[in-house]
Amino acid sequence: MKIDFSLNDKKVSVDTLPEKRLIDVIREDFGLMTTKNGCYSGECGSCIVQLEGNTVPACQVPVFAVRAKHVVTIEGFMGTERYLDIISAFNDVKCVPCPFCFAGKILAVDSLIDSRRSPETSEIMSLLSDHSCSCTSVSAFVEGVKIAYQNREIRGELMR
Ligand code: FES
Ligand code: FES
Repeated sequence: MKIDFSLNDKKVSVDTLPEKRLIDVIREDFGLMTTKNGCYSGECGSCIVQLEGNTVPACQVPVFAVRAKHVVTIEGFMGTERYLDIISAFNDVKCVPCPFCFAGKILAVDSLIDSRRSPETSEIMSLLSDHSCSCTSVSAFVEGVKIAYQNREIRGELMR
């Protein structure tokens, strides 16, 4: 089945089984390997992408469900100022996620700080619990997310 959708702001088309998982299409058909596959059960957070602006685990999305929709992966997101808000904050606190968590955490943090209110520590901890992560300092991660929010606020992209 031919499926047309937008991938990182480009119109793309893939001819594949409709039930093929989006994570496999992203990696195998488009070669976007920074987005990781882990548990394939929606638990580890490594495969997160943005679908119509919302974060979703791409292992739980059949590719037919993205027809005519907008998908953004970490590869596309890395070219944005929004990405710089987050990565510079994680650099500041020396808490850049390792390759397993990188895509999922960065995109999840983007959604959290885009909710236009200062994220509470409990919300950040909750976000972290959605990821199977074994190599993060929790306190540094919390601090990094708060700095990322401030970075975005300074750029004037958040409204109160
Ligand atoms: S591979 Fe999708 S949540 Fe783990
Ligand atoms: S940052 Fe390495 S497993 Fe999460």
